[in-house]
Amino acid sequence: MGDVRFDGRVAIITGAGGGLGRSHALMLASRGCKVVVNDLGGTLDGSGKGSAMADKVVDEIKAAGGEAVANYDGVDTVPGGQNIVKTALDAFGKIDIVVNNAGILKDKTFAKMDEDSWDKVIAVHMKGAFCVTNAAWPIMRDNAYGRVIFTSSAAGLFGNFGQANYGAAKTAMVGMMNVLKLEGAKYNIKLNTIAPIAASRMTEALMPPQILDKLKPDFVSPLVAYLCSEDCQETGGIYSVGGGYFARIALMEGPGYTQPVTTPISMEDIRDNFDKINSLENPRKPANISEENQAIFANIMK
Ligand code: NAI
Repeated sequence: MGDVRFDGRVAIITGAGGGLGRSHALMLASRGCKVVVNDLGGTLDGSGKGSAMADKVVDEIKAAGGEAVANYDGVDTVPGGQNIVKTALDAFGKIDIVVNNAGILKDKTFAKMDEDSWDKVIAVHMKGAFCVTNAAWPIMRDNAYGRVIFTSSAAGLFGNFGQANYGAAKTAMVGMMNVLKLEGAKYNIKLNTIAPIAASRMTEALMPPQILDKLKPDFVSPLVAYLCSEDCQETGGIYSVGGGYFARIALMEGPGYTQPVTTPISMEDIRDNFDKINSLENPRKPANISEENQAIFANIMK
């Protein structure tokens, strides 16, 4: 098998002015992909803006012989998403790949969580993924080709103290992906989600330098690039990635406990069988709501 290539492909990478997004942009461009480097150019908490971050990455890509164009719109509005897509169409004529990567943090314990911290984090991560992906969707459908990445986080998938807003936003993307994998299937649009860990301005204060050295964004981008490639047929996957570790994460359902619905079910029935209800032994992974509901319908049809 030859190298994974992106010749003739066009990618939008949001929040690509630094950290993980920059690394994804450089990697895709190094394999022939034309890249829209989107970045609002703000601070970690989402305040401020500027063109310098996106411009710098575009310059890096061009200096290495690649093709890229900058866009400075915020991902968190419909006009912003549309303009990011317009930038790709004006410069390169189509869109094949969307990497939803832009992000901010406004960490607070839930007792101190205020509306502004909630709304801004939900807006950038969750609404931002909608605004950009939705604007690109008709183009990918018309071309019967698309690869979309959502950037989630273990903070939401598994939990992290002080990040209720971020955790909610990051897990909402999985719901969006689960629906879009069904809606995109017949148009060859494949969507996957990563839960990364990497050294960036988002994590530099959380870990010592000797650990950060081993968590380079470059260790995350090869998986993102592969998931964005024509070679990859996977859709609806969630992957933990960072520091050379790559693993599938999945929402699974236990074997369950059933009772006939011909007689009332009491709270005591639940209490006495809670271990069975709670069991995750031999789990299954339903591919959609119909598969998930099968066990329920099998029980009521008995
Ligand atoms: P980063 O702060 O270097 O990158 C985020 C980029 O998004 C910044 O360049 C920022 O200017 C841009 N951005 C923020 N708001 C924007 C908006 N409204 N429109 C367009 N661009 C905007 O941080 P990092 O670590 O590279 O984060 C990338 C993504 O990975 C984020 O979604 C983050 O939540 C996620 N992530 C990162 C982890 C890590 O260990 N670094 C862990 C889990 C998730």
